Amino acid sequence: MKYDMNPSSFLIQIPFFPEQASNFAFEYDLFYLFLVAVTIFFTVLVAAPALYFLIKYRRRSHGQVPEQIEGNLKLEITWTVIPFLISMFIFAWGAKLYYQMYTPPTDALEIFVTGKQWMWRAQHPDGQREINELHVPLGRRVKLTMTSEDVIHAYFIPAFRTKTDVVPGRYTTSWFTPTKTGTYHLFCAEYCGTQHSGMIGKVTVMEPPDYQAWLRNVPRDKSPAEAGAQLFTSQACDKCHLEDGAGRGPSLQNLFGKDVKLASGATVKVDETYLRESILNPGAKVVAGYANDMPTFQGLMTEEQVAMIIQYIKSIGPKQGAASTTAPASAAPAPAAQGVGRPAPPQAAKAAAPQGEQPRQD
Ligand code: CUA
Repeated sequence: MKYDMNPSSFLIQIPFFPEQASNFAFEYDLFYLFLVAVTIFFTVLVAAPALYFLIKYRRRSHGQVPEQIEGNLKLEITWTVIPFLISMFIFAWGAKLYYQMYTPPTDALEIFVTGKQWMWRAQHPDGQREINELHVPLGRRVKLTMTSEDVIHAYFIPAFRTKTDVVPGRYTTSWFTPTKTGTYHLFCAEYCGTQHSGMIGKVTVMEPPDYQAWLRNVPRDKSPAEAGAQLFTSQACDKCHLEDGAGRGPSLQNLFGKDVKLASGATVKVDETYLRESILNPGAKVVAGYANDMPTFQGLMTEEQVAMIIQYIKSIGPKQGAASTTAPASAAPAPAAQGVGRPAPPQAAKAAAPQGEQPRQD
């Protein structure tokens, strides 16, 4: 209820506009209305005098020769500078909004979304899955990490004013804070084939306790990180990526978010996109000091499986850092094998998680 104090509820509901149900909606609409107002103002400002002059200075006799006007410097400077300032204001405001929308917070609830002809799949941090639906808690920042199994789709929640392309071969992100409970439309907003118009769903914003109750009632898979840990073993990743870095591949402990030196001399920041590329196209950015001999997993794993492995790699960073008090990275390869699949101590993971993928505080 308290979230109804959001400024959005003070704006008159504009006919034909969707409800305002996220942190972005109010300012986004205000910006849009400002653009409409400026456009109408200048349309009238130009069209009305044009009509007036058309009539007032019409040709009154056949032989009439109009008086030539050479120009007016003051007038020209005025009508150049004022529109310039207005357009710069629009640019600055638009850039600010864009920057906010494309900079997801680090403490968000992370939900993984896959688009596929013609459905939306979502997976919550603890493994709960849903299709063509998305349940989110009120007042909590939510970050969607999205990819596609086939063609380009776009995840569009009009009530949140968020629309982001979902692209095969890479991750895109979107974020929002729901500010109003209710059920809202979810659309695919990129033409993606014959059933594009049917690629729709529902977004349900719930009070946090209701969301928790909902989570408990959804049959729960393994969490993405747990499933990733299993894949890490079953795909034999753990045979080369030893914990101490002595294997054929670099150690993946505590790797996420770090800068890594490449064989090419360049440096790359380890994020989801880099990990994904390294799984599917291992030769693209080889880490300095290691040979380019990892096989590709292109076609052998679905996007969801790749995402699971990435979640696992994210989870072993902080976990190891926090739990390393016991064993100071002994040279024996045995601990590496043990490390795989060990569930993260939630406390430690939370304390050290740079990306905050774990916190489920509410
Ligand atoms: Cu998916 Cu249109």
